[in-house]
Amino acid sequence: MLVQRPPMGWNTWNTFGSEINEALIRESADAFIDAGLKDAGYEYVVIDDCWSARDRDPVTHRILPHPERFPNGMKVVADYVHSKGLKFGMYSCDGVRTCADYPGSYDHEFIDAETFAEIGVDYLKYDNCYKPQNAQGPTLYRRMAMALRASGRDIVFSACNWGSDDVWTWIRGAGAHLYRSTGDIHDSPESYRSIANSQREKLGFSGPGCFNDIDMLTVGMYGKGLVGSTGCNDADYRSQFALWCMYSAPLMLGCDIRRMNEQTHKLVTNRALIRIDQDPECRPPIIIRAAHSETCVSMLKMMDNNEYALAAFNMGESDSRIPIMFTDFGLPVSAGYGFQLKNAFTGEDAGTYRDYMRPAVAAHDCVVYLAKLVRI
Ligand code: GAL
Repeated sequence: MLVQRPPMGWNTWNTFGSEINEALIRESADAFIDAGLKDAGYEYVVIDDCWSARDRDPVTHRILPHPERFPNGMKVVADYVHSKGLKFGMYSCDGVRTCADYPGSYDHEFIDAETFAEIGVDYLKYDNCYKPQNAQGPTLYRRMAMALRASGRDIVFSACNWGSDDVWTWIRGAGAHLYRSTGDIHDSPESYRSIANSQREKLGFSGPGCFNDIDMLTVGMYGKGLVGSTGCNDADYRSQFALWCMYSAPLMLGCDIRRMNEQTHKLVTNRALIRIDQDPECRPPIIIRAAHSETCVSMLKMMDNNEYALAAFNMGESDSRIPIMFTDFGLPVSAGYGFQLKNAFTGEDAGTYRDYMRPAVAAHDCVVYLAKLVRI
């Protein structure tokens, strides 16, 4: 199966951790529709760890649903999600136990893939805890990829080994459609910045078929929920969302989508930013550290149809002007061409610049433009 664009959806983990149940999934599927997330392109409703009983069925060896959280089994949940025109995701692990100590799929890959296919799963996140010491990560991911392929159902395979074992070098060959490249995100400026910065040199490995997954978003959490941490402000959320879009990273929301405030809703359904994330070419941006700055960067992403995305991020603590020299991206000063800009947040025209600009960017914030290269 070819996954052409970075998957978009919502995952239970960041906010809810083990506090999950059938009602939450149903209400969140409803919210997908009511909040217009489906219309904006989000499609996967993903249940992370803690959905299963502590032990497998002693006779069939199948994984069982958690008796209190999902008393009616997983199929009714999948059916409900599907009835909304959405896709259904679940979670397992390549080790003996999952990270939260539920049964993992180690040595049960094929029977578990059959179970997931019977439930109607469209997306499987596959973690990396409690891996036997003599087991090779690449082998374990290949095993599950083969099991999913043999299951008779198209299931997006979302590998989650946190960037270990030089994952970017072998994961495409191991059959995954996306791969977590970093440790877990927390809802703080330091966390999303360090995650994004750690992948600057590795974005060339990401593209149609197999995407670099820099973790679920914390946008809209404001410090609440499992990975709440210090929380972020709206400028941080703009920057986080824009970084993920510039990287063509999967957009998996992690806040409580039933209760998004207006700013969060506006940001995560922003068509211009989603257009940047979902550009069919999925090219990595050219990233330039701003002259005389440790904390400011600019990025240019080539997209199809002579469009570009141009962004500048202020990851520092003081408001700044960020110098952007187009020649750093490859445009000759003497070309007679310049970038005609439209502000991606407001939709307003932002002027045409030939070789240089110096936008004002507040601390923690960013500017993002959709751009066309025009003769001037
Ligand atoms: C971590 C993973 C998280 C979440 C958690 C569940 O390993 O990175 O995203 O899935 O396990 O226990």
